[in-house]
Amino acid sequence: MCGIVGYVGNKQAYPILIKGLQRLEYRGYDSAGIAILNGVLNVYKRKGKVSELESFVKSKDVDGRIGIAHTRWATHGEPTDENAHPHSSQSKDLSIIHNGIIENYDVLRNELINRGYEFHSDTDTEVLIYLIEDIKKNEKVDLGEAIRIALNQVVGAYAIVVISKDEPDRLIAAKKGSPLVIGIGDDDFYIASDATPIVEYTKNVVYLDDEEVAYIQKGEKLKIKTIKNKDKTPYVTKLEMNLSQLEKGGFEHFMLKEIYEQPRSIRDSLRGRLNADKGIVSLGGIIDYEQKMVNANRIIIIACGTSWHAGLVGEYLFEDLARTPVEVEYASEFRYRNPVIYEDDIVIAISQSGETADTLAAIELAKSKGATIIGICNVVGSSIARATDAGSYTHAGPEIGVASTKAFTAQVTILCLMALRIAQLKGTLSKSRFRQILYELESIPEKVEKTLQVSKKVIEISEQYQNVRNFLYLGRGYNFPVALEGALKLKEISYIHAEGYPAAEMKHGPIALIDEEMPVVFIAPNRGIYEKVISNIQEVKARKGKVIAIVTEGDESVRKLADHVIEIPETEELLVPLLATIPLQKLSYHIAVMRGCNVDQPRNLAKSVTVE
Ligand code: G6P
Repeated sequence: MCGIVGYVGNKQAYPILIKGLQRLEYRGYDSAGIAILNGVLNVYKRKGKVSELESFVKSKDVDGRIGIAHTRWATHGEPTDENAHPHSSQSKDLSIIHNGIIENYDVLRNELINRGYEFHSDTDTEVLIYLIEDIKKNEKVDLGEAIRIALNQVVGAYAIVVISKDEPDRLIAAKKGSPLVIGIGDDDFYIASDATPIVEYTKNVVYLDDEEVAYIQKGEKLKIKTIKNKDKTPYVTKLEMNLSQLEKGGFEHFMLKEIYEQPRSIRDSLRGRLNADKGIVSLGGIIDYEQKMVNANRIIIIACGTSWHAGLVGEYLFEDLARTPVEVEYASEFRYRNPVIYEDDIVIAISQSGETADTLAAIELAKSKGATIIGICNVVGSSIARATDAGSYTHAGPEIGVASTKAFTAQVTILCLMALRIAQLKGTLSKSRFRQILYELESIPEKVEKTLQVSKKVIEISEQYQNVRNFLYLGRGYNFPVALEGALKLKEISYIHAEGYPAAEMKHGPIALIDEEMPVVFIAPNRGIYEKVISNIQEVKARKGKVIAIVTEGDESVRKLADHVIEIPETEELLVPLLATIPLQKLSYHIAVMRGCNVDQPRNLAKSVTVE
């Protein structure tokens, strides 16, 4: 959460910083601010989105070739102008932007208050910049050294960039727990929470590691030290993303673009990893760990949010195909509940951003117990990707809409490939069944394309139900996680209360909610325990609920009962989640648009949750 950007070089900093903030707005949009140095250190900040900051600075002096900027997701202190970053030191000579949480800020704050400092915000960040200035003054060290010493006193997570009025060509950055990337241009440097603000200027980047401080001086080579004062050699990597992936490409919202990208993103997830004719499934990133996966007595999947839903599909896949027992855990629960972890456990961590703080902490815990960690991440070079022993990238491309869509189907695709590969090695599937699934998986991108054509029907349904207050989503087996994901998508972006449930559990509670006002979405393909789902539909109809059913093309039985049906192509039961999710994404999208909601940036949410 929170996006940070910095620039030092020969170009005007303001346009680079503002554009960077717009790219990072998915990380938080409670307030935004900027500090630009040009003799004087001008700091402007505003509650609200980046666009409000832009209007605010229109008539102001933004001239300068060095600066820092921030878009905030509030943790300590409400979203106000005062709490917005950058925060200045007491003398106003220094300014800082920060992503993360300083956990011992209260102790540090009290010490500084006792020494006569006065604070102007409720944030933990202001404490840090005061501390840095205090050390610089009292210990008579330069800024870089003061920052390094201060960070040794800090408990918590941070990605920071500091600018000083006295250093017109230098920024200092550091990180622990929150991400930070430094782009290296011909004669300038770009700093950001992820590579999206950097990619249009340079492809050469350095990802800082935890507890590293970067000394970024125009005209000099990048220098990195640990906070324990050990020199490090910067490791430059090449970015693979391109600019067009970061733009809307004619769609009204990123979310819609990303929904429509799914045939492509699933193809990219499968590319080079599946050959049905030859009976090959191969994930290069995990080859060295396959045998461990085969021998594992169990797999633990850890994730948060939508990625956790993908993990649930993964549980069904691994148990069904490879006969390996699986537990799926919310990373936030797992890390704090003293779980039993064995050395031969395989932990699969799933994360779109690769930065989710709880997932990272759960990985560290599992690592400390000797388990093997396999990652499924979308963002290349992200913290989780680097913290795992091995893994497979989803290759879905940058996902900008806060509500996850293409990342989910890409994660399910990778889980499917992994489960198939382990099943093949364990011999838990017959050769013919294995081939059959491979062929079907190969045809999924085309079927997703077909599924995307359901727009008219989905828009009609959205019009009819856009004003209801509650929705229920029901599914069984592989479609239970799909029901959870459908409900999550709706509540995230339209603010309609929605619950996902295993269809048969309905009679243990949610059935009490059903009346003629209540839309119930059934994921009811003609596979698995289809007849049982039909009985559940009948139970809803008997109580006058409105049924919206996702069915297999040509289905007649459900059609007779349901108020609305949305057809998806026929496929294997285990692959239905890849198709059934699509109309549910579109349903939530259209309802949210009709309700006038900000689809790409829903209130209170952020895409990359780097706080626990
Ligand atoms: C946030 C996002 C969700 C995402 C979840 C986990 O809540 O809004 O879309 O599913 O974090 O994020 P990760 O990046 O670890 O998949």
